[in-house]
Formats: sequence, structure tokens, C-alpha cells
Amino acid sequence: MYKIGNLEINNRIILAPMAGITSFAYRKFMSKFNIGVAVTEMVSDMGLIYGNKETKSYVTFEKIGCYTGVQLFGNSPENIAKSALICLKINPNIDFFDVNMGCPVNKVIKTGAGSALLKDPKLCGDIVRELKRATGKPVTAKIRLGVDSKHLTYLEVIKELENAGVDMIGIHPRTTKEMYTGEPHWDLVKDLRKKMSVPLAVSGNIYRVEDAINALEITGAEAVMVARGGVGQPSLLININNYFKGNELYIPSLEDQINWCLELARDYIEEKGEYIAMRLYRGICTKFFDGFPNSKQLKCRLSTELNKYDDLVNILNDYKSEILL
Ligand SMILES: Cc1cc2nc3c(=O)[nH]c(=O)nc-3n(C[C@H](O)[C@H](O)[C@H](O)COP(=O)(O)O)c2cc1C
Repeated sequence: MYKIGNLEINNRIILAPMAGITSFAYRKFMSKFNIGVAVTEMVSDMGLIYGNKETKSYVTFEKIGCYTGVQLFGNSPENIAKSALICLKINPNIDFFDVNMGCPVNKVIKTGAGSALLKDPKLCGDIVRELKRATGKPVTAKIRLGVDSKHLTYLEVIKELENAGVDMIGIHPRTTKEMYTGEPHWDLVKDLRKKMSVPLAVSGNIYRVEDAINALEITGAEAVMVARGGVGQPSLLININNYFKGNELYIPSLEDQINWCLELARDYIEEKGEYIAMRLYRGICTKFFDGFPNSKQLKCRLSTELNKYDDLVNILNDYKSEILL
């Protein structure tokens, strides 16, 4: 349906990178609902160069039912390329590299990385050029509109990336300053794909099937990125796929949500061990029950009492009997 370099992708959903969430366990779980591409959470080039154990664990993964790209962040073409070669030594399963040019977090932008790169379109191009030259892999970039509304550099950045041979561009049409709030500026990226020579992916407030379809139609993009809206809601993936297949909307039952919640918990435990996984899961598992009755009380219990997998099973059993009374 579209290509990222030599990779043929036949599904228009991309699982967006989310630091602290989209580890291998999450990508493996979500890929069962059919996606074309998944991207790792952002990985520091310097963390890899210094041999940081945790950083290396982010780029160690197996093949799943879709292509996986490693997202790198940094601000030097040479260091990013060097870190990508380290990744390839650790893991031959990497299909492509993505460069983070959109992170708005202070810790990252003060080092000149993430969305700070948008101030220097030429450097954005140099990073992609060097990364492609060094690895021979397809290279994509994920950008924002610019650092603020007075500095909307995305069109210049896109041109530089294209000149450097980028294989796809993802855009989250907000500025650095806007972080994750307010509406994405779809008006500014209307028909964007027509101005471009490479595939486009779009991201921003994709919570319902309509959001995904609107984003694709407005921009003409090949792919849509599912981020916050997919957490605890794998049926969003089912239903975007259903839309393209002409199938009806699938409304998940409480039983579905409980089963999926437990399945993802087991995947995180296998990856991180029970102690770390269950602490991380406090903030994630509650999302499976948005919109269900008494979900506030359930969320309160889950976010305070969850220490072990058995706690999760017990709390969900209590909830189920309460709801079905
Ligand atoms: C907790 C969190 C972590 C994120 N981490 C990354 C990241 O590591 N790399 C990246 O390119 N974008 C990251 N993003 C941005 C998302 O990929 C996505 O572009 C953004 O959330 C907008 O989509 P949404 O409004 O549908 O969530 C993150 C977003 C959130 C909420």
C-alpha cells in the first residue's frame, strides 16, 4: 500500500512512540490487533554510545507481526549514526530508524535534540543523510510544526529531509510550546502530502475512528499514528482496520477489556519483572476501563493497591462482580 524505503507496508496504522509505554511488551500486544509499523520509545544516542544498560534494553527486541523502527534522539549527525550502528550490532531485527524531531520535554530540548532541531532545518537533513549513509537502512523522522506559532519551520524541515533522502515523515501538528494540549492544527497541514515527495504519517488526538479518518483525509497521508488513544483501547486499532475493510464497529465488552488488561500485564511482567511492571501498570491499566460504570473507584484501587499480578486479578474480579450484580 505504501513503502518506507524498501519495506512494503500494507496497513495504514502506525503505533506511535511513547516513552515509558511503548516497550517491546506493548508493541507485541498491540501488534496482534494489526498494525503496519511500530516505533520504539525514543532512545538516547549518547546512552547507546556510553553503553548504558537500560538504553541498550530498549533496542533489544524480537520480530513481531509488523515492521519495527528504532527511534533515536540526539543532535549530532555523527553521534546518531554511531548509535544506530551500535543498535544494529545488538539487534539484527531492526527494520528502520526514526529520528525524534518532536519531543517538547525540557530535558531533551535543552541538549539541542527533539523538537529543538526544528530551529535548524539543515541540521535535520544532515542527520538523516548521515544515518542513511552509515546504516543503509530506511530512515524516517517525526517532526512538529515548529517551536512556537511564530516559528513554524515544518515546510523547510520537510524540504531538507526530503533532499537528504528521508523515507517517510511523521508530523504531529502542534508546536513545541503546545506540548500535548489543545487541538492539533489540521488546518496548517491540509493537503500536506501533495506538497511532499515521500510518504506522510500523521499524529495528534487520535482517540476515535473518525479522528483517524479525518486526519488521513485532511492531510492526504498514507498512515495515521495511534498514541494516547490506543492505551487501554486496543479496539481503536480493531475499528480503524474494520473501517478500511468495510466492517462494522466493534464495541468491546467488559470481559474483553479485562482479558486484554490482564494479557498486557503478563507481557509487561515477562519483560520487566513483576515489581517494575506492576508499578508502571498502575498508570496504564486504568485506561482499559474508561467509560465503564464506577470506573473512578476502580481507578482509585488500581492506582493505589496494585503491587502484584494477583492484586490485578483480584481487583478486576471484585469489579466484575460489582458491575454484574
Ligand atoms: C507519554 C508520552 C510519551 C511520548 N513519547 C514520545 C517519544 O518517545 N517519541 C515521539 O516521537 N513522540 C512521543 N510522544 C508523542 C506521541 O507519539 C504522539 O505524537 C502524541 O502523543 C500526539 O498523539 P495523540 O494526541 O494521539 O496522543 C509521546 C507522547 C506521550 C503522551
